[in-house]
Amino acid sequence: MKKILLSATALVVAGAFALTGCSSERGGDTGSGSGDDAKGFAADATIGVALPDKTSENWVLAGQLFTDGLEEAGFKADVQYAPASNTVAEQQNQIQAMVTGGAKVIIIGAKDGKQLATQVEAARDAGVTVIAYDRLIENTEAVDYYVAFDNFKVGQLQGQALLDGLAERAGHEAPYNIELFSGSPDDANSAVFFNGAMDVLQPKIDDGTLKVVSGQTEIAQTATEGWKAENAQRRMDSLLTSTYSSETLDGVLSPNDTLARAIITSVQGAGKDVPVVTGQDSEVESVKSIMEGIQYSTINKDTTLLVEQSIKMVGQLQKGEEVDVNDTEQYDNGVKVVPAYLLDPIIVTKENAAEAYANVPSLLEIVNSYK
Ligand code: BGC
Repeated sequence: MKKILLSATALVVAGAFALTGCSSERGGDTGSGSGDDAKGFAADATIGVALPDKTSENWVLAGQLFTDGLEEAGFKADVQYAPASNTVAEQQNQIQAMVTGGAKVIIIGAKDGKQLATQVEAARDAGVTVIAYDRLIENTEAVDYYVAFDNFKVGQLQGQALLDGLAERAGHEAPYNIELFSGSPDDANSAVFFNGAMDVLQPKIDDGTLKVVSGQTEIAQTATEGWKAENAQRRMDSLLTSTYSSETLDGVLSPNDTLARAIITSVQGAGKDVPVVTGQDSEVESVKSIMEGIQYSTINKDTTLLVEQSIKMVGQLQKGEEVDVNDTEQYDNGVKVVPAYLLDPIIVTKENAAEAYANVPSLLEIVNSYK
């Protein structure tokens, strides 16, 4: 259903390109991001998509959706993943090769958003428009647009889900014992998710409702290098040993599903009751876990919609139109506020799963199989 929707949109977009007959090359403008200087480019131009290593299902899905969607819209798609090892250097090389190869737009899911300035500046100098996808690219003027789910809101929803879950499942009144996990420090999203969650949780820590028993409340103490499950599992193992031999752990803030399942595995391995654990991404195994009453929550950030929005931006650039953005305030990358198109994330628990996945047939099927 989603796929058909994408195809239908792509056909309309492709049709519009045919009608305008636009084939002029964009030439060497500097891609300021204002859209004013865009002159459009060939309707069959190459579009580069550089994605990070496959640390969660959304990245795997995005690659296929970009390949199909861009080609259905009439473009040539050059979709590359950075390999699991030597990722940053490989991604830098891939982006450089896309510039040399004549891509008109490069969409980047950064492995390390702080280490791409040289490559995106080379892209800008060659007249290529750069769109940061899901993760912001930092400390450079050369990022034209950002397209993502509203990451701060993701964090706020996770914080609220943790509170709701504790009230529902802890089996006692406050105070509740919790621990905090955050994502990889090389991903700009990690701090945004964490700050969003702390926006909700900090007042409850301050008033004594929540107790972070380990005392580890700084983002650096809670980080999960590389978004790797084994790193989260190791940290949870050591927290259980150091802090929870006699205390009960009531809840854990987890920034995504991969880490949530690692945290749950750790707790189960220690023979303890599973606490309230949050997540993000609506990964299949986590949706099953939620329906089984184990993981408490996840976030629906429908990758199909994010890829569709990105391809829509490419279509607008191709025609030399102004690019749709809906946020020009939040995403300061250190040297500029990057114009952004933000989509709305949805919190998912067992209770609202059927409704939350009403437009995601593969997940809805899983939810319905538990009825
Ligand atoms: C994405 C999350 C994902 C994480 C790990 C983040 O940048 O926004 O959806 O879980 O990377 O891949």
